Amino acid sequence: MARRHFLSLKDWSREQIEGLFDLAAGMKADPGAWSEALKGRSLAMVFQKPSTRTRVSFEVGMFQLGGQALFLGANDIQLHRGETVGDTAAVLSRYVDGIMARVFAHQDVLDLARHGTVPVINGLSDLLHPCQALADYFTLRERRGQVSGLKMAYIGDGNNVCHALMFGAVKLGCPMSVGCPKGHEPNKLISKSAAREAQKLGSPAPEVTNDPMAAVAGADVVYTDVWASMGQEAEHKQRLEIFQGYKVTPEMMAAAKPEAVFMHCLPAHRGEEVDAAVIDGPQSVVFDEAENRLHVQKAVLVTLMGGVGPR
Ligand code: CP
Ligand code: NVA
Repeated sequence: MARRHFLSLKDWSREQIEGLFDLAAGMKADPGAWSEALKGRSLAMVFQKPSTRTRVSFEVGMFQLGGQALFLGANDIQLHRGETVGDTAAVLSRYVDGIMARVFAHQDVLDLARHGTVPVINGLSDLLHPCQALADYFTLRERRGQVSGLKMAYIGDGNNVCHALMFGAVKLGCPMSVGCPKGHEPNKLISKSAAREAQKLGSPAPEVTNDPMAAVAGADVVYTDVWASMGQEAEHKQRLEIFQGYKVTPEMMAAAKPEAVFMHCLPAHRGEEVDAAVIDGPQSVVFDEAENRLHVQKAVLVTLMGGVGPR
């Protein structure tokens, strides 16, 4: 899919991702300079699932850039009554300058991009969460100066966040180790695709292991996410048992580098995938990640929607 959209980090080169980081850093340092960058532009925000960070950061981001965002909840639009994704994309494209969508089936964001005529941003699908990964690597770059070579350990469910981080790791040259229970490894197609990209770019391919302590050994980042994602609520109880041993604890953090940071996309469940002592402890950067969603997404919006430069 063309870079006209932001659907997966796989579609963006390392230079383009670094360009987004530079733009986001400039916007974070001087937000006022960009207050008219998207003046008169509108973003439709389609949400098939709930959200705190994605909704608020996109809505506030558009406001700070001089534009407006329209919240279109699952039950608010005709999509809910059977209007096709294709027709929805075609119609929205006649009114707005961009579409951000949070969906279940990844095919829905692909269809929005295919049938619409405006840029589409993936605000999370069952397969990928590229806005989150972009904010996370930006957070690491802020703290460490550069991300290339930093070891990312992802512990828990091989889900949408994990997949997006895998593509980011490959693009940015980070070794990544995923530690997950048997049967909950990352999607095979994503793993293959990430490995192919890694080979092309000369980056290390993400590794997968069922041993969480092996995954975190010597890591610069220990990352986790919920064990039951949105749409998997019925499996929650069963998953609590399956994922025992994959909780990020102080003991697990001690196996990483002493300067390692703890990351989580949020929302978190203290006592399930992470101990409170870790997420609320000195190594945690979870609220920086959440804040940086705003800055990196503003950079994506201006890049895709053709905003003018700073005043
Ligand atoms: N991390 C994230 O996307 O959070 P929300 O579900 O609150 O948007
Ligand atoms: N994996 C989680 C991420 C939430 C931001 C989910 O899809 O629910």
